Amino acid sequence: MSAVIEKKGGFRAWLNKRLPVDQFMEDQLTGYYAPKNFNIWYFFGSLALLVFVMQIVTGIFITMHFKPGWATAFDSLQYFVREVPYGWLIHPMHAVGASFFFVVVYLHMARALMYGSYKAPRELLWVIGMLIYLALMAEAFMGYVLPNGNMSYWGAQVIINLFGVIPGIGEGLTEWIRGDYGIGDATLTRFFSLHVIAVPFLLALLIALHLVALRQVGSNNPDGIEIKENLGSNGKPVDGIPFHPYYSLKDIVGVGLFLTLFAIVVFFVPTFGGLFLEAPNFEPANPTSTPDHIAPVWYFTPYYAILRAVPDQKLGALLMGLSVAAFLFLPWLDKAKNKSYRYRGILSKLLLGTFFVTFCVLMWLGLKPADGIYVLLARIFTVLYFAFFILLPFVSKADGNGPVPNRVTYNAH
Ligand code: HEM
Repeated sequence: MSAVIEKKGGFRAWLNKRLPVDQFMEDQLTGYYAPKNFNIWYFFGSLALLVFVMQIVTGIFITMHFKPGWATAFDSLQYFVREVPYGWLIHPMHAVGASFFFVVVYLHMARALMYGSYKAPRELLWVIGMLIYLALMAEAFMGYVLPNGNMSYWGAQVIINLFGVIPGIGEGLTEWIRGDYGIGDATLTRFFSLHVIAVPFLLALLIALHLVALRQVGSNNPDGIEIKENLGSNGKPVDGIPFHPYYSLKDIVGVGLFLTLFAIVVFFVPTFGGLFLEAPNFEPANPTSTPDHIAPVWYFTPYYAILRAVPDQKLGALLMGLSVAAFLFLPWLDKAKNKSYRYRGILSKLLLGTFFVTFCVLMWLGLKPADGIYVLLARIFTVLYFAFFILLPFVSKADGNGPVPNRVTYNAH
């Protein structure tokens, strides 16, 4: 135990003998050195953590009043929103929070792509991140089904039926997921149990592992230079600064900006033009009335656009699965010597830039009806989407090895 800790007396010493609080602070916060050139892209990890906690807290209050089941789900949520004190606030915080979770996570992932944070030695950190992403998608989908609105019902119908294309086991699998021949009580109660207990537990475990893996290898940075390779006389990285107080304070700025934006959306535009809360979900589920366009929420639409771009449903489902899974293999597809795209050539920059645009265009296309020009565009952008993963090994090998500075670049402001 360090001298600092031994000197302290009273309650703090008593506590530290029984629980290594100060040791933890020293190891993980004040003594943990992070690169000094973090920019605003490094806000999104701590913000993802904040949204996770917010979703849990608001979810606990909704769960106190929500009654899962075909006949009760919609009405109990309406009751919560209209009659229970602060229900009008807590429910939109949770529903809008889901969209904000994905905004934050997509920006967090985009940062990792730009700075090559998925490359060795952070492959496992990335893979754990991808598992979080998959769990988050399952969590958001089940949460969306729970209120039993009309889009909940028809969205669930489309997504669950997708599993039906798996050869041999498909039909049995869809029945097993629903717990019935159609979406009903059994589906809603099992989704409730998974949404409220199983997946949040899994997410908490994965987030903890994500952070342990991050501490083990240390953070990357916008220059993609390993700061651990250049230590000063005190044994600490010369390009590092203690996480606390420097980044704990900087992260508070991100939290302030985030909460301001979040409050503006929750209070003034909670439906966000039908993107965050879709109109058909303000009506109860009706198996005899299909909404005009069945589209998932915006964060799933890039993959949905890929699914619908292919005329053959089986191939479409396969490509959709592949389009998500492809991210898992990035650490091994990227052959560049340098991590950060700052020090890669124009071809690499063009490739990644095109991919970001493609992802956004597919997101937009997934919200449009699947006919006419939209289908043609979806096909073109599906090809561009996969082109990124196919070309990456070649482009990164040829174009990812420019000169890199010895020290991180940092301008004090
Ligand atoms: C609930 C979701 C998540 C939480 C709470 C979370 C939390 C964090 C935190 C606190 C950091 C350190 C701060 C930062 O670099 O911004 C971090 C870093 C990182 N995360 Fe996540 N993360 C989540 C999801 C993901 C996902 C979905 C991926 C990728 C698929 C991912 C990949 C990474 C990578 C590669 C780093 C290291 C970045 C670097 O050092 O440049 N994370 N994460």
